[in-house]
Amino acid sequence: MKIGIVGLGYVGLVTAAVLADQGHYVAGVDIDENKVKGLNCNRLPIYEPGLDELIAKNRDRLHFTNRYDEVSEVELAFITVSTPTINGRINLDYVFLAAKSLRIIPKDSVIVVKSTVVPGTSRKVREISEREVVSNPEFLKEGSAIQDTLKPDRIVIGSESKEAGDLVEELWRFTGSPIFRTTLEEAEMIKYAANSFLALKISFINEIANLCEKLPGCDAKVVAKVIGMDKRISPYFLDLGLGWGGSCFPKDTQAFVSFAKDMGERLRTVEAAIEVNSERAVRAVNLLKGLMGSLMGRRVCVLGVAFKPNTDDTRESMAIKVIKKLLEEGAVVMAYDPKARTDLVNMLPSKEECIREAEGVVVATEWGEFYGIEDLLKNKYVVDGRRVLRKELMDGRYFRAIGLGY
Ligand code: UGA
Repeated sequence: MKIGIVGLGYVGLVTAAVLADQGHYVAGVDIDENKVKGLNCNRLPIYEPGLDELIAKNRDRLHFTNRYDEVSEVELAFITVSTPTINGRINLDYVFLAAKSLRIIPKDSVIVVKSTVVPGTSRKVREISEREVVSNPEFLKEGSAIQDTLKPDRIVIGSESKEAGDLVEELWRFTGSPIFRTTLEEAEMIKYAANSFLALKISFINEIANLCEKLPGCDAKVVAKVIGMDKRISPYFLDLGLGWGGSCFPKDTQAFVSFAKDMGERLRTVEAAIEVNSERAVRAVNLLKGLMGSLMGRRVCVLGVAFKPNTDDTRESMAIKVIKKLLEEGAVVMAYDPKARTDLVNMLPSKEECIREAEGVVVATEWGEFYGIEDLLKNKYVVDGRRVLRKELMDGRYFRAIGLGY
C-alpha cells in the first residue's frame, strides 16, 4: 500500500519504519524542516534501539518530506502528531491541522488517528477531513518501540465504517496479535484507561513504599514481588521508585482528568495517582538529606537523567526533577547518563568519574550499567531511587533506598 504518516516523532517514525519493512511505500510528513533534512541524511532525531538499522534497511521504500502534496496519492494516512497537555488540558491543534491538510488525499482514502486523543476527537477529524476515519491507538513503549509494534499485546481498531476498519485490520494482521474492533470513542477511551491504570499501579506501589520506609525490616520490593505473583495483580508495572515520567503518562493522566471534569465526572483514583507521583523527587532528596544533613555546597552525583533506561528522552524525567530539587537545596550537582543529556548541571563522561567527584550519589534511572556498582559507592552517601543496588552489600549508615525500611 501507499501510506502517509503525518508527524515524525517516536510513534510516527517507528510506524513508518515497521510498515516500510512490511513492503509498503511510506511517505512521512513533518513540519519541522530540520528533522526532515536530518532524516534524509540518515540522522535520526531520537535514540531508539534498532530504529536506525530498520530505517536504513528500508530506505528505498521510505520518503521524508515537509510537503503534504507528496502524500496526495496515499490509500491510508496516519496521524501521529503530538497532543501536548497545556495548562492541564489536551491541545488538539496539531491533530486538527493535520486533518485539514489531509483533505488532499483521495476521497476514498482512510485517515488513521494514532495520536493519543480524548474521546470524540476522531469523529471531529472525520468532519474536518471529510474522509473516513479509524482510531488505532498506539501502545508502544520507548526503548522497546519496534518490538512493541511488531508484536503488541492487542490491536484496537475503532471505526464507524466496516470497510475502513477492515483495511487497517489487514495492515496489522502480520503481527498475529489479537485485534479488537470497537467504536471510535471506545478506542480513544481504551488508550487513556490503559495509560491511567498503569500510572495508578505505579503510584499505588510507591505509596506502599512510603509506608515501608517507616518500618525497619520492611522492604516494599519484596511486597511488590509477592503481590505480583497473584495473577489478578500481575508483576508488571509494580516497580517502585521515583515514579512515572516521560512524554505520555504525565500528560495523558492530566488530560484524562480534565476531560472527565468537562463531562461532569471525577477520576479520583487518577487524581490521587498524579498527586502521589508529584512527591517522588522531593522524597528521594529528603532521604539524602536524612543521611547528609544540609546539602548546601555539598557535591552530589545523579546517575541517570533519562526518564527511563534505553532512551535519551528526558521529558518529564524524574531524574531532572531530582536534579532541580538538589539545586534548590544548594547542592553542587553533577550527572552521568549513557545516552541522555541535560544543560542544568555538569555532565560527566563516566559513572566512575561522576561518583568519584561526589560525596553523595542518587541513582535516578535504572540503566543496566548501574547494576553491580556497589563497590564504586564505598564511602559515599547513597540513595537508590530505582532499587538497582543490592541492599546487603551497602552500609546501612550511609545508604537509603526508596521503599526500604530503616
Ligand atoms: C507508556 C506506555 O507504557 C505505553 O503503553 C504507551 O503507548 C505510551 O506510554 C504512550 O502513551 O505513548 P512510555 O512512556 O514509553 O510508554 O514508558 P513506560 O515504559 O510506560 O514508563 C513510564 C514511566 O513509568 C517511566 O518513567 C518509568 O520509569 C515508570 N515506571 C514504569 C515505574 O516507575 N515503574 C514501573 O513499574 C514501570
